[in-house]
Amino acid sequence: MATITRDPPGAWTSDPGPLRCPRCHGPLRRTDAGFDCDAEGCASLPISDGVLVVRDVPTDDNRIAADFYNSNLWPRVRFWERLFWVVNGGERRARDVVLRHLPKCSGLRLLDVAIGDGVYTSWLPEDWSIVGVDVSTTQLAACRRRNSGRNLRLVLGEAEDLPFRDREFDAVLSNGGFNHFNCPEAALREMARVAKPGAPVVVADEMPDFLDLGHRLGLPALDHWIASRLMSMGDDFAGLVERHRKIDIAGIGRRVLKDSRYEIIWRGGGYLMIGKAP
Ligand SMILES: C[S@@+](CC[C@H](N)C(=O)[O-])C[C@H]1O[C@@H](n2cnc3c(N)ncnc32)[C@H](O)[C@@H]1O
Ligand SMILES: [Zn+2]
Repeated sequence: MATITRDPPGAWTSDPGPLRCPRCHGPLRRTDAGFDCDAEGCASLPISDGVLVVRDVPTDDNRIAADFYNSNLWPRVRFWERLFWVVNGGERRARDVVLRHLPKCSGLRLLDVAIGDGVYTSWLPEDWSIVGVDVSTTQLAACRRRNSGRNLRLVLGEAEDLPFRDREFDAVLSNGGFNHFNCPEAALREMARVAKPGAPVVVADEMPDFLDLGHRLGLPALDHWIASRLMSMGDDFAGLVERHRKIDIAGIGRRVLKDSRYEIIWRGGGYLMIGKAP
């Protein structure tokens, strides 16, 4: 018989909330260690350091992303991200260009896909309940530290295979990871599936082909060098950036969302793709 523990705010409690079994899509129940599928022997999802572990080893390119964000390369690349925010009027202002598309209502249930270290969650209303998904244990640990005490529950898992029931969230946000997901279109379909019909799905990232100088000069290796060495992304993540530089974000939005809209933001450095869950 499972023992129900009293958890601090922001932790997974006895209530599985929006969760479903990632394998059979059936209901889950709380155990001492985390959640188990109701179907005997189907799936066990442990909770480790407050984070629900749905998939600890990501697949294909998501593994490259996880390794990068778990490594000491990401803090070095962050220097460039900070510079990017400065050029765009400061981080708060630049992020507001995206965050303002979330509904203003109280008690909102938000899903944040690729939440990272959750730098902006403190700018969102205190009474929102937030579920964040990410493939990086390091990013999720930082997110947890930063958000202790608030209603935020974290999942180690992939955007392409969300462990939630259909039509659970009032809004879905994904900022800064979409371009490099294994399959952005599959991820957007998942975000639309778990959002309530008509709920906003808000996606933003830098332009997939933001590194363009080398390509313009006919020297694509130059862009790889800039990404891997100058910007410190390392060879594997720089290769991933290169492979995804031609993805058609607007087309993905049109195929998956209702009333989808695509606009260039951050002085041409990024895009906002927004639409409603069908
Ligand atoms: C640049 S960070 C953005 C974090 C945060 N949303 C922000 O705006 O600061 C990108 C995040 O995407 C996560 N990520 C990459 N691929 C993912 C995937 N397929 N599913 C979930 N998270 C992913 C990374 O681990 C990383 O934390
Ligand atoms: Zn199951």
